[in-house]
Amino acid sequence: MIGRELINLVEKNGYYEVEFTDLTHDAMGVCKVDDFPIFVKEALKGEKALIKVIKLNKNFGFGRLIELFLESPFRKVPICEHYQACGGCNTMHMNYQTQLDFKKYRTVETLRKLGRIETVVQDTQGMNNPYYYRNKAIIPFGKHNGKIIGGLYRSRSHEIVNIKRCHIFPKVVSDMVRFFRSLFTELDVSIYDEATHEGLVRGLMFRHSRDQSQFSVTIITTSGRFPDKERIVNSLIGKFPIVVSVIQNINPEQTNVMLGAKSKVLYGKDVIEDNLLGINYEISHQSFYQVNPEQTEGLYKKAMDYAKIQPEDVVVDAYCGIGTIGLTASAYAGEVIGIEVVKEAIKNAQQNAKNNHVKNIRFITGKVEDILPTLKQRVDVLFIDPPRKGVDKKVLESIIKSKVKRVVYISCNVSTLARDLNFLQANHYKVVEVTPFDMFPQTAHIETVTLIERLES
Ligand SMILES: C[S@@+](CC[C@H](N)C(=O)[O-])C[C@H]1O[C@@H](n2cnc3c(N)ncnc32)[C@H](O)[C@@H]1O
Repeated sequence: MIGRELINLVEKNGYYEVEFTDLTHDAMGVCKVDDFPIFVKEALKGEKALIKVIKLNKNFGFGRLIELFLESPFRKVPICEHYQACGGCNTMHMNYQTQLDFKKYRTVETLRKLGRIETVVQDTQGMNNPYYYRNKAIIPFGKHNGKIIGGLYRSRSHEIVNIKRCHIFPKVVSDMVRFFRSLFTELDVSIYDEATHEGLVRGLMFRHSRDQSQFSVTIITTSGRFPDKERIVNSLIGKFPIVVSVIQNINPEQTNVMLGAKSKVLYGKDVIEDNLLGINYEISHQSFYQVNPEQTEGLYKKAMDYAKIQPEDVVVDAYCGIGTIGLTASAYAGEVIGIEVVKEAIKNAQQNAKNNHVKNIRFITGKVEDILPTLKQRVDVLFIDPPRKGVDKKVLESIIKSKVKRVVYISCNVSTLARDLNFLQANHYKVVEVTPFDMFPQTAHIETVTLIERLES
C-alpha cells in the first residue's frame, strides 16, 4: 500500500489514499488529493480507497479504484458481467434505494446551484423491478480481430463492448443480438468500420410493445444496396415470430448519429402498437417514444395531477412526439393542441387520435419556438417536454407574454430544467413542486415533472 504521507503533489499515474465526499452528476465518486478534485467511477460517498490518477485536466482529474479500504453499506454487486466495461449503465453498483436517493439529491442540488430554485422536491418514484425495462435499444456493430461484434459503447468512447446479455433490455433483445452476430458471420455480411468509413451494416435498432408481442427491428446500413436482405429477414422472422416489422434505415453519413434520414420497410408494417393508460399508439421507428412504459404511465399521471385541467380548458402539448401527453389530457380538456417538429411523429399522432376516436385534439408540425408565439387561442395549461437541450428562450418569453396559468414541465435533463425554471421564476412564475421519476434505472439519467404556476399579481 502506498501511504498518503509519501505523496505531496497530484501526479498522473500516482497512487493516493482518499475518502469520497460526494458524487458527480454522472455518479462518479468525488474525492480530493491536495484539494484537487478527482472523479472516480464506481466509488460511493463515504468510501475510503486507494486510487490511481489516470487523467489530469486543469481543474479536476480522473482516477481508477485500486483497492477499497472502507466499503459503503449502500454498495451492491452489479448483476451484469459487462458493467465495468460497458457505458450503458453507471449506477448498478448502488443498491436501488440509493439510486433513487441519489437522483433526488442531484435534482435538489442542481436546481439550487444552477437555477437558484428552492422548491419542494418529492422522493424519486422508482420501479418494482428496475431491470429489463427499456423498450428501445440501439446496438452498433463492428469488427474486432476479424470477428463480428455488436453491443454497446464503452463510456466516453466508440469502442464496442460485445454484449452477451444486457440487463436493461428484455432478454429476447440480447438473444436477437447474438442471433444477428452469428447470421452476419455465416453470411459474411459487410460490417461498417468507423475508422475507414467502409462497410455496409452499421448496427441495429430494436423497439417493442410493452407486452413484448410486437418487435420492430431496424437494420442500419450505409447504402441502399443490401444483397443479403431477403435471407436475413426470412431467418429473423423464422426464428423470432414476434418481429412484426423489419426496416432498413440508410445512413451514408460520416457521423456519430446512428439513424439516417431514409428508410424502407423490408417486412411487415412500418409501425408497432403499444398502449399507455388505456390509449393505443402507433409508433414508427423514427418517432420519439418514452423508453420505460411503466414509469411513463406514472409520470403522465403525475403530470395530469399537476395540470388540474378543467373541462373548458385549452391545453397545449408542446414537443408532443406521437401525441401521448395531449391524448392523455384530451379526456379532461375542452381542446388540445400538440406541437412537434418531426413530420413522422405528427403523422403517428394524427393516426393515434383517429384510432382512439379523440375529436378535441389537433396537431401542428413545426418548431415550438415558431408556433407557440403565433397561437391565437388563450392557453390555460401548457405541457412542455423538450429534448435534453431544454426550451428555446423564445418559448419561455412566449409563456411569460401569454400569461398561461399553469405550466407542467417534463424534463430529461435537470441542468437545462434549472436554467429554464430560473428564467420563469424571475418573470412572474413560481416553481411549486418537482417529482423525479426513475425512467432509466441503473443509469444516472434523471427524469422530472415540475409544476409551475403564474403568480397572481
Ligand atoms: C422528450 S421528447 C417528448 C415527446 C413526447 N412528449 C413523449 O412524451 O413521448 C421531445 C420531442 O420534441 C421534439 N422536438 C425537438 N425539438 C423540437 C422543437 N424545437 N419544436 C418542436 N418539437 C421538437 C422531438 O422530435 C421529440 O419528439
